Amino acid sequence: MLVLGIETSCDESGVALYDSSERRLLAHALHSQIAMHQDYGGVVPELASRDHIRRVLPLIDDVLAKARQPVRAIAAIGYTEGPGLAGALLVGAGIAHGLAMSLACPVLGIHHLEGHLLSPLLSEDPPEFPFVALLVSGGHTQLMHVRAVGRYELLGETLDDAAGEAFDKTAQLLGLGYPGGPQIARLAQSGIAGSVTLPRPMLRSGNLDFSFSGLKTAVMTAVKRHGMAGPTEKAKADIARGFEDAIVDVLVAKSLAALQLTGLTRLVVAGGVGANSRLRGALIAALEARDARVFFPELVWCTDNGAMIAFAAALRFEAGEKGEAGAHPFGVRPRWPLSELSL
Ligand code: KG4
Ligand code: ZN
Repeated sequence: MLVLGIETSCDESGVALYDSSERRLLAHALHSQIAMHQDYGGVVPELASRDHIRRVLPLIDDVLAKARQPVRAIAAIGYTEGPGLAGALLVGAGIAHGLAMSLACPVLGIHHLEGHLLSPLLSEDPPEFPFVALLVSGGHTQLMHVRAVGRYELLGETLDDAAGEAFDKTAQLLGLGYPGGPQIARLAQSGIAGSVTLPRPMLRSGNLDFSFSGLKTAVMTAVKRHGMAGPTEKAKADIARGFEDAIVDVLVAKSLAALQLTGLTRLVVAGGVGANSRLRGALIAALEARDARVFFPELVWCTDNGAMIAFAAALRFEAGEKGEAGAHPFGVRPRWPLSELSL
């Protein structure tokens, strides 16, 4: 059965075609709006919605052409129903329901974070259930106990900024562009570890919650120390390194604590910050030392994409979800706790 996935929750239009009978991704296509938003230092929701309108149909054509499939071969559709930007979500929802109506096929709204946390299952060597998932994206930082598809228990989450948001805001303070994660990571490579020490928020809080807004304030203080002239390139690199080390330490410590609490030995990392190589290296080393294993989605599936949505929809259809016929009125859920999901 061919399942079309459509992702439009934020600044990436992603489309993919997944063959659930063959368990194989046939094709995917992505348009990133990063260049368009860069001038504004962050995502402008209205511009995002309008660009999704321009991109999604050509991306669907592209995916069908790559997979050498006619549009009528689509047997079911999954789209991101939330959480995300309301206008951007509505574009994907409208196209998915319109297409489903014309094809008389079922259509299913997918939780964006479920897409992220199941994305490591797309890899050659997927983790088995149950596992702990560390979801670290631009909008969310959560630790979940994942028992099966649709069975997610929230173990801890950020009380304020998300990890990706902290990267983005720190990048802004250092005069780097958007998105901040990759730029901080690049700059931190030439920074000297330990030359700038920043706080590790909530490291010893005794629970699995996070807080990153204080870290951003600490970066601001470190920048201000350099007076009107601002930090030199070298000083910026040291701050970037200090920031990255602090955030990685907290994410690793809380992930280990989550494994200990649940008694599990598999950790799955998902979301854009999962692309960070220092985080990857630190998690691999820390878990190896404890006879546990960490799984990452392939880099291309770390950030937003259509494949994770097609895949999550395929698993839900396979598990018996019927979806809706396209004629239904539809809505989106810009705010939608992952722990409300079931199957
Ligand atoms: O999952 P994602 O693509 O979108 C959301 O659902 O939010 O995550 C985007 C976030 C951004 O905050 C970006 O700065 C961060 O992921 N990110 C990184 C890296 N690549 C992307 N953060 C740290 N290191 C990276 N290499
Ligand atoms: Zn995302």
